[in-house]
Amino acid sequence: MKSSFSRRTFARLVGAVVGSASVPLFAATGTEPPGSRTGRMIFPEGFLWGSATASYQVEGGVHEDGRGPTIWDTFSHLPGTVAAGDTGDVSVDYYHRYKQDIALMKDLGLRSYRFSIAWSRIFPTGSGAPNANGLDFYSRVIDELLANGIEPFCTLYHWDLPQALQDKRGWENRDTARAFADYAGYVAGKLSDRVRRFMTMNEIRSFVELGYQQGIHAPGLKLSAARVAQLNHYAVFAHGLAVQAIRAAARPGTQVGIADNVQATTPLIETAPHIEAATRAMREQNAQYLTVIREGRYTDAYLQRLGADAPKFTLEEMKIIASPLDFIGLNIYQPTYVRADESPKGYAVVNPPASFPHMYSPWLYVGPEAIYWATKLVNQLWNPKELYITENGASSSDVPENDGTVVDSDRIMYLRNYIGQLHRAISEGVPVKGYFVWSLLDNFEWADGYAKRFGIVYVDYATQKRTPKMSAAFYRDVIARGGLA
Ligand code: BG6
Repeated sequence: MKSSFSRRTFARLVGAVVGSASVPLFAATGTEPPGSRTGRMIFPEGFLWGSATASYQVEGGVHEDGRGPTIWDTFSHLPGTVAAGDTGDVSVDYYHRYKQDIALMKDLGLRSYRFSIAWSRIFPTGSGAPNANGLDFYSRVIDELLANGIEPFCTLYHWDLPQALQDKRGWENRDTARAFADYAGYVAGKLSDRVRRFMTMNEIRSFVELGYQQGIHAPGLKLSAARVAQLNHYAVFAHGLAVQAIRAAARPGTQVGIADNVQATTPLIETAPHIEAATRAMREQNAQYLTVIREGRYTDAYLQRLGADAPKFTLEEMKIIASPLDFIGLNIYQPTYVRADESPKGYAVVNPPASFPHMYSPWLYVGPEAIYWATKLVNQLWNPKELYITENGASSSDVPENDGTVVDSDRIMYLRNYIGQLHRAISEGVPVKGYFVWSLLDNFEWADGYAKRFGIVYVDYATQKRTPKMSAAFYRDVIARGGLA
């Protein structure tokens, strides 16, 4: 097993210059800046407090109702790939227990729930004839959510590529992008009568770099730099094609976005030179992901750094990649601290010293201001109509006490501080409209299997018993009060 320490360690890119527009301070987000009169951190009326899960991580039921195999079924069954040889075969059995889990959501007061659709439940081999039973499952989930007053947010790809497509070179094959768009359009056509917001993909960076470069996620490949750059290009292209397919098939008013784990470049010290450095770094560190999706071109520094390994692309593809979005979802966990630097790129990424505090996962450094700076800089650089925090959360060691209570004080500390910094961004006019805790339930955490728990609800994997942790009580209170009182 490779150490999960490398989970979020990313290649550094060479820098370039950036333009920026400033964010109005205390721009109106409602009738007045939220919390301004009382000094409490109260979020705007209608703010969508939610939580998130993903298909392979919670569903189980991998052989049911015509679901086709995915790269995670294959990968997790290979020896030495996942901690303790865990697989998502059963996971937390959400496929059969979703009603109970939605009741838990309701009890927490959740206004929204982000889930993903398993492509291979809809198209078992990735394309061809749709499997009606697969769609039915999600249709029932959506009905149950709506009956409980919870708004569904639907992700179309959270890393579980149909194995049949990987057998034809997966994301290295340009045809996979077309198949993804067809699947996305089909689902949006069927579900947009009840789902208003779709996200094309979850964390392109993660599935490209961990799955195809570092080989620690499915499909477990370690491709050359040139092949990774090309498949990365096809992945962002697939996102753009899917945006267009969803718009073409969905009901008017349907909103389309993405859930991106932007590198949350955060100034080490909040002074002008370091803030400028973090702004430049935001563009360059995310050049082949959010930057190209927003700007329709790769930065010069990115192309120069890759040289002969740079992706081949057409101008038509670049236009499609930059298809307009209704919102940007950001998954924010840890900061990438940046400082001003004399080098031509104008910034340096600061490596965390060994003493830097982190959560139970070694990669998950605690830096709450990351959520403030990421939302603020993304807004400043790319001016999205709306932003959502599509994931934020933390792993804890979570040992139940004798009476079953889980007192996850560290997770509460983490959430409180990140939510506070999110309020700071909103109070400055950054248009963040909702926040999703990762995760509702303990679940299959990819290469970590069941060894790392991110849920605000504890799951006893032997009995499937769900027990809300203290962090669930904390979050319920945040939702009930509309913020941090
Ligand atoms: C996010 C993913 O990157 O982080 C989730 O979107 C994932 O699917 C979460 O579970 C935690 O990451 P990990 O690798 O520790 O399971």
